[in-house]
Amino acid sequence: MSDKLRKLLLFGLFLLFLNVCKAVKINSITVPQRYEIKDDTEPLIFNCDFTVSDADTGFVLKWLHNNIAIYQWIPSKHPFGLGHFKGRVDLNYTLPTNDRLKKHSALVITKPLLTDSGNYTCSVQTFQGADRKTDEIQIIDPEDSIDLSYQFEADGMVKLKCSVYNIYPVPEVDFLLDNKELNSANDKDVQQDTELFNITVTTVLNKTEIVDDSPMTCVVKIPNTDYIKQEHKIYDDPNKPAATKTSILGLTKLEQSDAASNENNAEGIRLSSTAMFSSLLLVVATFARF
Ligand SMILES: *[C@@H]1O[C@H](CO)[C@@H](O)[C@H](O)[C@H]1NC(C)=O
Ligand SMILES: *[C@@H]1O[C@H](CO)[C@@H](O)[C@H](O)[C@H]1NC(C)=O
Ligand SMILES: *[C@@H]1O[C@H](CO)[C@@H](O)[C@H](O)[C@H]1NC(C)=O
Ligand SMILES: *[C@@H]1O[C@H](CO)[C@@H](O)[C@H](O)[C@H]1NC(C)=O
Repeated sequence: MSDKLRKLLLFGLFLLFLNVCKAVKINSITVPQRYEIKDDTEPLIFNCDFTVSDADTGFVLKWLHNNIAIYQWIPSKHPFGLGHFKGRVDLNYTLPTNDRLKKHSALVITKPLLTDSGNYTCSVQTFQGADRKTDEIQIIDPEDSIDLSYQFEADGMVKLKCSVYNIYPVPEVDFLLDNKELNSANDKDVQQDTELFNITVTTVLNKTEIVDDSPMTCVVKIPNTDYIKQEHKIYDDPNKPAATKTSILGLTKLEQSDAASNENNAEGIRLSSTAMFSSLLLVVATFARF
């Protein structure tokens, strides 16, 4: 056999191989990047868009979770759920289509659990060919609250603290000062209950690095998703010039006790900005009299 002929034959075989592969083709699957568990839970729906040649026989569609079959459908039969998804997939869910091979192709999880995170695969098989596609989802239980605070240390440093309560999975927690990321080392403490986490992150800054009224932000992100939450607080410098504070009797007291109490809370900040505003009004009113 000449070299040329051999090459031609191989090319022919290659074309034949391509053709067989084309008998079944998954074009795309829709797996949301994330799903949030809320009290009033919506079902979680995955779609599988595929093309099967008319001549194909022996069609079977399966969904797999982390490579374990959880749903199977043969068009002549009713679909069924498998393993730990048994009873949690909606077997009556029907796509509005006339295509006999599409009706029950979607996977519908009625009450998703945190353990349902991971890789989902749509697998379509016929006697003539097979194809599969996989994508990953992160199930999230959003936090109950984010608590951002700061306190003054004895050595002239300021300790920033951000706590995130009852979240799944463990998020990334970072600080911004004046909308710029702080690259100082963060200390992270993670506590886990049955499945939810409490995370407390702290970092220490030199007081001289923080300008009065600077916005401080705690950013909570869940890796590999676009989940992001932020909590803000305005830095109140205890050593700032007391220019606008002198003339108000009752309210000044509140401010002083707030600064002295070290641990700043949101209420203290709100009170002190009220105080600032009142003092401004007072000054304006005083001038207006002249
Ligand atoms: C699904 O359909 C069957 C028969 O039509 C019915 O008995 C069953 O209650 C339905 N299940 C759900 C979850 O709607
Ligand atoms: C999902 O698949 C990706 C890519 O193969 C892999 O990195 C990841 O660990 C898998 N996730 C799980 C939960 O198995
Ligand atoms: C997380 O914080 C909440 C609220 O403060 C508390 O009830 C819960 O016990 C904490 N869980 C852990 C594991 O520390
Ligand atoms: C904070 O910064 C100031 C000015 O740069 C410096 O003099 C001081 O030693 C620093 N304090 C600490 C605790 O590092």
